[in-house]
Amino acid sequence: MEPMLAEERIVVASPLATGEGGGLAEDVLDGLTRPFKELPPKHLYDARGAELFDRICEQPEYYPTRTERAILEARSGDIAALTGAAELVELGSGTAAKTRILLRALDDAGTLRRYVPFDVTEGMVRDVAADLVRVHPDLLVHGIVGDFERHLGDLPPRLDAGHGRIVAFLGGTIGNFIPGSRRRFLRRLANALEGDDVLLLGTDLVKEPCVIEAAYDDAAGITAAFNRNVLHVVNRELGADFDPDAFEHVAFFDREREWIEMRLRAERRMDVRVDALDLDVSFAAREELRTEISAKFTFERLEGDLAAAGLELLEVLTDPDELFALSLSRPRE
Ligand code: SAH
Ligand code: AVI
Repeated sequence: MEPMLAEERIVVASPLATGEGGGLAEDVLDGLTRPFKELPPKHLYDARGAELFDRICEQPEYYPTRTERAILEARSGDIAALTGAAELVELGSGTAAKTRILLRALDDAGTLRRYVPFDVTEGMVRDVAADLVRVHPDLLVHGIVGDFERHLGDLPPRLDAGHGRIVAFLGGTIGNFIPGSRRRFLRRLANALEGDDVLLLGTDLVKEPCVIEAAYDDAAGITAAFNRNVLHVVNRELGADFDPDAFEHVAFFDREREWIEMRLRAERRMDVRVDALDLDVSFAAREELRTEISAKFTFERLEGDLAAAGLELLEVLTDPDELFALSLSRPRE
């Protein structure tokens, strides 16, 4: 049989394009009219936000990426042997930089057939697809440009019943949910697993607050620019007139909840107009807008969350300093 051409091995589905879009207008209306202002973190990732996130990952203070990469480098062979997976589904795939290590291990084990990157940022899904079919000459890629909170139903059926898949959620992105939503989301992921499928979950671990705070406030100011970028997104997409430079980047570790928050603090009193929503919003001097939480995990919290979602923990892989954990779990019998 003739081998398939690279472009014939790519399918990209876009539930965001056919549905109600990214939900920015609803989230801005809802989030900026609350007594405590808040925007969900998914709007941080337009093309510029994605680029800034990549640069965050290279900052010396931001330990999660290099630590998770080291765990994958050390243990991807074991994950491939344990799962024998034919497919890797990845939520919030971004540039799939670390995922390539696992794809290589699955390919070397001779089981890999398809990769399913799932992200809100279309350019990243398309670029990753084009690159990976070039690197892996037999790989099929089924990209999904969607919101994993709304479009999990758009995952393609398993390629074949005999071979399992890994659903990967890396980078600690699960920590960007508040605890109740996090458990609900994990339950929905558990329900999407069939047969011998497994969930591969990256979670950042609780550690010294100063280490965490430095990771979210790097000296080069990249995280600050990433945080302010959400205001550029709202200006461009909804015709708002935020002055992003008039907002200070704030990152603090909440010791009781064990999560870090990013906020934007208004340097002075401000009135902001959001034309597309016919909305006027005022900020008091020093008023804060929360743009992200990033929960940190103990092993007990991880196990508790997985158990509450009906998942049984198979393995926890960590680094020698226990900065970050990758866990493998599957639906409880
Ligand atoms: N997995 C990569 C990227 C993490 S950054 C890593 O570990 O380095 C988080 C990624 O999730 C971004 O690419 C962002 O666009 C995506 N994302 C955030 N919220 C999302 C949502 N609700 N649905 C789909 N993708 C989302
Ligand atoms: C994607 N997510 C897991 C990152 C985090 O660490 O919570 C996003 C990020 N925010 C600031 N720096 C990185």
